[in-house]
Amino acid sequence: MKKLNIIRTEIPIGLEKPIRFLHVTDTHITRDDPSGRRRREEVFNVDYENCAEDYFLQAIDYAKKENIPVLHTGDMIDFLSKGNFDFMDEYFADLDYIYAAGNHDFCHWVGRAKEDYAYKWEMMKQIAPHVKSNLYFDSRVIDGVNFVTLDDSYYLISDGQTEMLRAEVAKGYPIVLAMHVPFYTKMFAEAIMQENPCAYLTGAPEELLASYPEDRRCQQTPDTATLRAIDYIKNEPLIKAIITGHVHRNLEDIFAGKPQIATRGSYEGDVRECVLC
Ligand SMILES: [Fe+2]
Ligand SMILES: [Fe+2]
Repeated sequence: MKKLNIIRTEIPIGLEKPIRFLHVTDTHITRDDPSGRRRREEVFNVDYENCAEDYFLQAIDYAKKENIPVLHTGDMIDFLSKGNFDFMDEYFADLDYIYAAGNHDFCHWVGRAKEDYAYKWEMMKQIAPHVKSNLYFDSRVIDGVNFVTLDDSYYLISDGQTEMLRAEVAKGYPIVLAMHVPFYTKMFAEAIMQENPCAYLTGAPEELLASYPEDRRCQQTPDTATLRAIDYIKNEPLIKAIITGHVHRNLEDIFAGKPQIATRGSYEGDVRECVLC
């Protein structure tokens, strides 16, 4: 089994004392494959079951050895299954982690059902008992930095989440915002659309959405609440950095003056040690 690749990234946010954390995302554990017809390794040409578990175990060993928290930005599992929940229960039990939900955390199998809000809230009942973080919105202050997680896994942010974010800002700490799906930036979109007909980003502009296949345009068009959230986040100086997953690529860009980072799926062997400084 190959050795985990740990990318190291400094994120300058004006701290006097640096804070480290390990960004792990898109682990895609695949125990009890429910499809019975196509296994994930056939889709991604990766030995998912072995690689995904092994790389995750290497990642959490490293975080524990270094005594740093894991910030996981979703898709810990590929689909809802007892085997996947058992894996989470076993390895989350003594792990210091913060979790932002991903779209796969709410699905039996991508494409199995229409992934709308009703479906998500129903599926959330299955996975929520296995995760310490609140999957809609959560926050935790570590050494004077507020790590805020919110669910944007369906390319939407609600007014309720924005109000909760405002209340976190009111605490006065610098904020690291962690979400599954990155915000649209030109650089992210161009990198992703080299290999895809759409960008899989929250808040894509209308002219770009017009070039997507219709089903993807419907899926990824921001509603007015999401546009309000984006406008607020862009203009709130206490929100210092955005940490994301979902796109299965190592990307770094600036979103409205704030570093936005995505890390490749840990199932492919990459995680990122971030140093806030
Ligand atoms: Fe993913
Ligand atoms: Fe995802």
